[in-house]
Amino acid sequence: MKEVCVGSKGLDGIVVGDTALSLVDGQKGILIYCGYNIDQLASKNFTEICHLFLYGHLPNKDEEENLKIALGQRYTLPKDVVSFLERQSKKDHPMGTLRTAVSMLSGFRSEPDLNSHEELVECAIDLIAKTGTIVSAISRIRSSKEPLSPDANLSFADNFLYMSTGEIPEKKMMRAFDTALILHMDHGFNASTFTARVVTSSLSDMISAVTAAIGSLKGPLHGGANTAVMKMLKEIGSVENVEAWLSNTLTEKKKVMGFGHRVYKVLDPRAKHLKRMSQEWGEIAKEKKWFQISEKLEKLMLEKKGLNANVDFYSASTYYTMGIEPEMYTPIFAVARMVGWTAHVIEQLKDNRIMRPSANYIGPIGKML
Ligand code: COA
Repeated sequence: MKEVCVGSKGLDGIVVGDTALSLVDGQKGILIYCGYNIDQLASKNFTEICHLFLYGHLPNKDEEENLKIALGQRYTLPKDVVSFLERQSKKDHPMGTLRTAVSMLSGFRSEPDLNSHEELVECAIDLIAKTGTIVSAISRIRSSKEPLSPDANLSFADNFLYMSTGEIPEKKMMRAFDTALILHMDHGFNASTFTARVVTSSLSDMISAVTAAIGSLKGPLHGGANTAVMKMLKEIGSVENVEAWLSNTLTEKKKVMGFGHRVYKVLDPRAKHLKRMSQEWGEIAKEKKWFQISEKLEKLMLEKKGLNANVDFYSASTYYTMGIEPEMYTPIFAVARMVGWTAHVIEQLKDNRIMRPSANYIGPIGKML
């Protein structure tokens, strides 16, 4: 008989599988994507890092161009999905709308053969391309604007911004957005990625896996935290109010959104890039308040609770000063994380075993009817 071991709540510290996609070193505060430190990759563009995850290496110029074209050919959504977005985007949480729209895509394409790497990569590219279009359409419909047709000549981040704002953004904005997307692409066996791998492990399909992952990312303990951070910064309202607000919040034993991490015991390496961006965009937008409130809160949280900021903390003030509506922060996270999810689905299938942990039964035994 196998030995039964009672695991840790929330799978804390439990290793459930191998991955060559990303390494999260929580003690040193290092994040590696496919062998490269995130600090080296942050200044690259979305397509290059997408190529790294899907093909295992950084692209040369031709490979990058080919992936850009492949994404561009898949930006356009089926009409029924656009009609659904037009009906639903103002009614539901944007992550709920995104989840259903991504799930609908399975009705408009064939399921890839799980044994064909080529077909799986093609499906991944299709999902990555279309998720950007879905999220930009949700954003426009929410602000009573017509969704725009994609421009296949633009690279992924540039097209996403164009479809969201209706303008070709200036270079600084485009490169900053590339960096933000790259920083959110993958992060080990986080809750949503693990969800995608669990679904895949039953040999279900890629669209089911990423649909479930979107549902997981939505929660405020995971991707939903970035929207919650902006709500919190607005509630604080001024640098002068940070100390009193924090004192009340901690007395009431409430969590401060954007702080703490299961794995990082030091500063989240993504947060330092986003902090720099938050400061820069505050200066560009001539609205330094959100960065200043954030910086003071970061300092006090470290002093009072020993907790560092995570990826969601400075992404909130960065996106806000870029002019993006807070409810769209988590869907934008999903646009980036779609790369990681699909790469993990492909990796899970290479050496699959169904995920089937055991539970510690704590109910009664032998009740009589
Ligand atoms: N604010 C205040 N206290 C926090 C905290 C936060 N953001 N994060 C953790 N803590 C405290 C908990 O209250 C708990 O204290 P206790 O032992 O006195 O009860 C302790 O730190 C451990 O927290 P716990 O929630 O058990 O850690 P976890 O590893 O299960 O959860 C997170 C990790 C990220 C979910 C958690 O830190 C959190 O909820 N953060 C806020 C949401 C967030 O920013 N999520 C995005 C993550 S990238």
